[in-house]
Amino acid sequence: MPPLLEVRDLHAHFFAREGVVKALNGVNLALHEGEVLGLLGESGAGKTVTALSIMGLLPYPGKVISGSIFYRGRDLLTVGEGVMRETRGKEIAIAFQDPVTALNPRLTIGAQIQEMFRAHTGMSKKDARQAGIGLLRDVGLPDAERMMDSYVFQLSGGMAQRVMLAIATSLRPSVLLADELTSNLDVTLQADMLQRLRKLRDERGMAIVLITHDLGVLAQMADRILVMYAGRIVEEASVRQFYRRPAHPYSYGMLKAIPRLDREDRLLPIPGMPPDLRDLKDECPFLARCFKATVACRTQPTPRFAPLEEGHYVACYNPVEARAD
Ligand SMILES: Nc1ncnc2c1ncn2[C@@H]1O[C@H](COP(=O)(O)OP(=O)(O)OP(=O)(O)O)[C@@H](O)[C@H]1O
Ligand SMILES: [Mg+2]
Repeated sequence: MPPLLEVRDLHAHFFAREGVVKALNGVNLALHEGEVLGLLGESGAGKTVTALSIMGLLPYPGKVISGSIFYRGRDLLTVGEGVMRETRGKEIAIAFQDPVTALNPRLTIGAQIQEMFRAHTGMSKKDARQAGIGLLRDVGLPDAERMMDSYVFQLSGGMAQRVMLAIATSLRPSVLLADELTSNLDVTLQADMLQRLRKLRDERGMAIVLITHDLGVLAQMADRILVMYAGRIVEEASVRQFYRRPAHPYSYGMLKAIPRLDREDRLLPIPGMPPDLRDLKDECPFLARCFKATVACRTQPTPRFAPLEEGHYVACYNPVEARAD
């Protein structure tokens, strides 16, 4: 089966006043139907820029420079805004970490849902309202009718996030890009959100790109893990492979920083800073922070992504051999 969504060698820059920020430097990923792909990496790695590029929503002064984004065999970078408008929401949807900025504060929840249904399905206002109420009931929100007439700021954080997930998935997209959807939620709400995502996957075969800093969430949810660093994928593995042998020293460092995976631990920072994305050199981007770096690492160009074993890839000259425990 060919992948549902395939990103190939994607490069994206921000043409900022302070210089050209090379946010994505050759991102590759493949997502299959019903698959949950975890996208992991510290702040600034390029996770959100990847998601926004897929949606065709990269804001100014950001621009996709090269590469391709195949969805069901068509390159979304070439289809034009008309097709993109049809694709967004209906085929590929995005849900953000912060519903307060993702939802319009000046419109009621109902108005936003109605607007979306009407734009995509040509429903009447009345039907769209009924559909909206049904949608909110589906995600287990109490008093759906009243909620239709509420504004985002009137909802609790957890409820707003649920509303956003409901809106994002209402047109039954095949792909959901979930950007930090479970962050900033307490444990109960987070479990509830993960349960909803799992249900969408199981019942509709929805494929999910799960963007998170949270290794515990990934261990529970993901089939495969992609680790991003400085705008590149530096490791790809099944969850099992990843926890057995996080081969990139960066991945290893992240796992090592967590005493136990079954606890509510968040990623701890790895010492040092990622490289300046305005001034990337042709060398390993993790070099300055790497505990495995050798003389050979310092003299060679940026390492290429290469297989370690079936389904496990790493961009590193000196991958870690052992497991992190
Ligand atoms: N509008 C912008 N102008 C300039 N640079 C930007 C802009 N938006 C993002 N970037 C840069 O692109 C890079 C990738 O950002 P991105 O938001 O994708 O990171 P992220 O992995 O989602 O991080 P986080 O975990 O903090 O959400 C960062 O270095 C960031 O500084
Ligand atoms: Mg982000």
